[in-house]
Amino acid sequence: MTDTAFSLLKPELDSASGIALWIADENLLNQTSRVNPDVTVISNRLDLCQQLESAGWHSLFSDFDFTAYADHSVDKILYRVSKEKPVVHHVINQAIRILKPGGKLCISGLKNEGIKTYLDKAKKLFAGQIEQSKSDKNTWMGILQSPGAPDTELLEDHDYTTLREVATDENFSYISKPGVYGWNKIDKGSAFLIAELPRFIERLPQKPETALDLGCGYGYLSLNCAPLGCRITATDNNAGALKACQENFRLRGIDAEVIAADCADGIAGRFPLILCNPPFHQGFGIEGDMTDRFLDATRNHLQADGIACFVVNLHIPLERKARKRFSTIETIADNGSFKLVLLAQPK
Ligand SMILES: C[S@@+](CC[C@H](N)C(=O)[O-])C[C@H]1O[C@@H](n2cnc3c(N)ncnc32)[C@H](O)[C@@H]1O
Repeated sequence: MTDTAFSLLKPELDSASGIALWIADENLLNQTSRVNPDVTVISNRLDLCQQLESAGWHSLFSDFDFTAYADHSVDKILYRVSKEKPVVHHVINQAIRILKPGGKLCISGLKNEGIKTYLDKAKKLFAGQIEQSKSDKNTWMGILQSPGAPDTELLEDHDYTTLREVATDENFSYISKPGVYGWNKIDKGSAFLIAELPRFIERLPQKPETALDLGCGYGYLSLNCAPLGCRITATDNNAGALKACQENFRLRGIDAEVIAADCADGIAGRFPLILCNPPFHQGFGIEGDMTDRFLDATRNHLQADGIACFVVNLHIPLERKARKRFSTIETIADNGSFKLVLLAQPK
């Protein structure tokens, strides 16, 4: 589906020249645009970087890391706003640092994503220098011209780049940061899965030697699985999540591998144990096929005698979707909000 906010930005992307950056996140998956060789794409999503690279764009996969860009070195920045406010504020704050005086920040978004508030805040920071346009009553774009230095205090980005302790339970304290899924809390579904993990594990013929944490986020499932003594491979496609997960492992002395991958693509081998709390939202949209993709990845990475432990919201038809991929599908618990599903015998 065409994203109207991105459509509004496209002419600015097409005409960008000099040193230009396109800040792209998950909302832009499957959106197409003519390649502009002057533009470098920065994205925190590996799948988006791979998609744009194969279309001919030059892309950098990072947690929206702008440290390689010196102060006042960039001519133009293009940004269709992200879902999380700290990410948007981080990008706007960095824009004013790295744009040349007179350089332009073009931001677009929809009304229900808070674009008007973002434009108001950016306008103050950019000393009032803004040109606004809209393509319909919901879709807005602002082109801000850098005055060289911020005119007011920078926007609250919750210290975007810093990893910090965000949650504690009886087992661990967890390190995370803005930009990571559910960054400042323990996911209730994942906590339910861990509480019931022994019920899954008793179904294995022997102690698992390895485990795959599919969509690891900051590593909550991996950390809580580590006491089983298996070697863990944790994977995600979000740069911030991988950074946080790596740090949690380092702090706890867990010898595990953290791999950037799109739905475990390219990860070799099969595992006796797979843990997964799959995403079902993608950016501002809801992508029905995310569950299918995670189920496919599980089928492709599960050992013949292994088990996969999934937690999903009750309304997700995981069992039905799993039927063509696994011979054993059992809902082993539900707590009124989430259900735990055991998958085995990949077809
Ligand atoms: C519901 S969260 C679970 C996070 C973590 N396992 C936990 O329990 O807190 C889903 C995770 O899947 C990741 N994800 C989304 N799409 C992905 C993809 N295509 N490939 C790999 N990971 C993905 C997200 O970045 C997010 O960290």
